Amino acid sequence: MSADQVFHSRSEGIPSEGVKDQYADGKAARAWNKFIGDSNQRTQNYKDFLIGLLRKHGCESVLDAACGTGIDSMMLVDEGFKLVSVDASDKMLKHALKARWEKRKNPKYDEWVIEEANWETLPRDVNSFMPGALFDAVICLGNSFAHLLDEHEDQRVQKMCLKNFAKCLKPGGLLFIDHRNYDAMIDSGATPGHSIYYNCKYPVDIKTSVLVVRGKPKLIALDYCIDVTEEGEASERSEFRLCYYPHKLAKFTAMLDEAFDHRGKHHIYADFKPQEEVSVPAFYIHVMEKARD
Ligand SMILES: C[S@@+](CC[C@H](N)C(=O)[O-])C[C@H]1O[C@@H](n2cnc3c(N)ncnc32)[C@H](O)[C@@H]1O
Repeated sequence: MSADQVFHSRSEGIPSEGVKDQYADGKAARAWNKFIGDSNQRTQNYKDFLIGLLRKHGCESVLDAACGTGIDSMMLVDEGFKLVSVDASDKMLKHALKARWEKRKNPKYDEWVIEEANWETLPRDVNSFMPGALFDAVICLGNSFAHLLDEHEDQRVQKMCLKNFAKCLKPGGLLFIDHRNYDAMIDSGATPGHSIYYNCKYPVDIKTSVLVVRGKPKLIALDYCIDVTEEGEASERSEFRLCYYPHKLAKFTAMLDEAFDHRGKHHIYADFKPQEEVSVPAFYIHVMEKARD
């Protein structure tokens, strides 16, 4: 069941060949920049969590597999990590390329690689512009992985993509991957407007629709409405719809373990904290360490 069969996207994204790019018409890409706010203003919890773990494990090279407009990558480049940033959406990459150009006088940005790639063909795509490259860490954050829907109703493409992330890692490398707390969203029918990742200065309202097929939640559509009115100006709203696969924690955990051949070390965090500290988190963040041999 694909999103197009059920929901008409408010933002009429036109997929480029073979790629279901929900950002293809550029509307969501522009609005996304407003949602994530100033790229220098990441939430401190997120920064401390990601950078802390990368440093603790001695990671230097990072593949940002869902770089979008480049916000996570820039945070890591600023901290001295070597970044290769990829995304399937050229409309999103356009913003990352522009950001790199604007930072061209900062020598840290000289080696920032930005390329188009799809999770479905990730090792091959990366190999085409960086033959033989393997990374200390792969990140796929900001609820990105849930963009991949389940057309065959057996999650086979999602499983293949998780394996592709594992293939891009060096032995002992780390995968950071997250999803919203879809268990709670399905129960409550609501999505928290505040993001644990971004400091958005505008009020955000997110309307949640759950599509249930044969008794199982198959897709969640989130209608983002951001009030971007500036003081003293006429009211202005940015609206876009994104559709997600509602990953349940237990199933996603099992899929990820399988992708690492049940040999990875798997830690799950709730809003960047140990799970027992947060009763109903907005996000789960999985950190998977690839086996060394
Ligand atoms: C929600 S955005 C998040 C971007 C960024 N990590 C952030 O936090 O702002 C999700 C990104 O995943 C990308 N994406 C979705 N499906 C993809 C795929 N199959 N391969 C590569 N990128 C994909 C989208 O194009 C989009 O830029």
